[in-house]
Amino acid sequence: MDIYEAIKKRYSCRDYSSKPIEQEKLDRILEAARLAPSAKNLQDWRFVIVTDEKKRQELAIAANEQLFITTAPAIIVGCSNSEHTMRCGQKIAPIDLAIAMEHIALAATAEGLATCWIGSFFPGKIHTLLDIPEKIEIIELMAIGYPADKEVRRPRENIKTIVCYEKWQF
Ligand SMILES: Cc1cc2nc3c(=O)[nH]c(=O)nc-3n(C[C@H](O)[C@H](O)[C@H](O)COP(=O)(O)O)c2cc1C
Repeated sequence: MDIYEAIKKRYSCRDYSSKPIEQEKLDRILEAARLAPSAKNLQDWRFVIVTDEKKRQELAIAANEQLFITTAPAIIVGCSNSEHTMRCGQKIAPIDLAIAMEHIALAATAEGLATCWIGSFFPGKIHTLLDIPEKIEIIELMAIGYPADKEVRRPRENIKTIVCYEKWQF
């Protein structure tokens, strides 16, 4: 599958099959995260893969009780150790982590899997559940697995609404 196909095919899946993810597939998907760009090439991201059923249930509760998450055979907990801020004033951690997580989402799509970004969660509960040190920031979670729902295309703005050339023309 080429990159444009994967971009078009990816959607947020909120119901997963119980079929486990083959380790070779997961390895290839995580390799896509490893190869992602990062500011100053710091690569200060860390990914905790949670497959244990009880822990997945706890994660779903910590994720604002989004119980569909428990149907996913794996949940990727995206963390960062970086306190750096770029000269532009933006924090590196969420940007780098988001790039790596989207590499994961697109690679997963290319492997016939589906994903869902999870930003609605209470980090404190997850720190305790997974023994993540306090100084490590939990930036995003991602549910991943074989989809049990139907692929959907959710609406997007028209390109002219979001892009202009040469100067601000919105
Ligand atoms: C940073 C971020 C956080 C998100 N958090 C959640 C979430 O907590 N729960 C959820 O069901 N979907 C979450 N989503 C998925 C969005 O709702 C979804 O991407 C959007 O509605 C567009 O739908 P699509 O991904 O199917 O194209 C999140 C997406 C992003 C990028």
